[in-house]
Amino acid sequence: MKLKTKSIAPSILSADFLHLADEIEAIENAKADLIHIDVMDGHFVNNLTFGPFIIEQIKGMTKLPLDVHLMIENPDRWIDTYAKAGADNITIHVEACNHIHRAIQHIKELGKAASVSLNPATHPNVIEYVARDLDMVLVMSVNPGFGGQKYIDNVNEKIKYLDNMRKNKDFNFLIEVDGGVNKDNIHLLSSLGVDVFVAGSAVFKTKDYKKTIEEFRSLM
Ligand code: DX5
Ligand code: ZN
Repeated sequence: MKLKTKSIAPSILSADFLHLADEIEAIENAKADLIHIDVMDGHFVNNLTFGPFIIEQIKGMTKLPLDVHLMIENPDRWIDTYAKAGADNITIHVEACNHIHRAIQHIKELGKAASVSLNPATHPNVIEYVARDLDMVLVMSVNPGFGGQKYIDNVNEKIKYLDNMRKNKDFNFLIEVDGGVNKDNIHLLSSLGVDVFVAGSAVFKTKDYKKTIEEFRSLM
């Protein structure tokens, strides 16, 4: 799949899980661009969410591309499973995988978009030698594990660094930001070079998702 700039990816981590099908339909009607799916294993992060079975069911009911963010140890062992479950983009954490280059090639061979994520403390230069192969870099702007946390301002510098890196070296990866994104910071993030905006609580904790997403778009 081709990821596009200025996209909004609601994270279903903050959705009502007893009515997940309705929630997904609602964000589709609200013209979200992607569905962001946070997979957590209770090891790489403390929290535990869901795995390939739920993703397979989501895939069966929506046309929106699935942006699967793997917050799991050894994500390279799970690439085939998540690709088969219906992920359109697969994001792995550089902190969780010893062989990032090989894992990226594997994701691409399966015909999926390949992305890597950086925790708040990780320097962006770790991706430089694989950046040419990447579709996207996911910048974590909170420590991963939970929705509803506060955006970490130091991350702005990392976004600028990545934006400069791609301009100077002619890389084509998009920049995605995840954690604490809301209507108060989306304009600034967009001006720093962010292409894909993940928002969990800032979408699902509002009443009218369509109005919220329209407002986000007007600020991007
Ligand atoms: C955190 C997740 C995020 C999270 C964002 O580990 O990766 O996607 O759901 O939630 P908000 O937008 O509420 O910070
Ligand atoms: Zn995420």
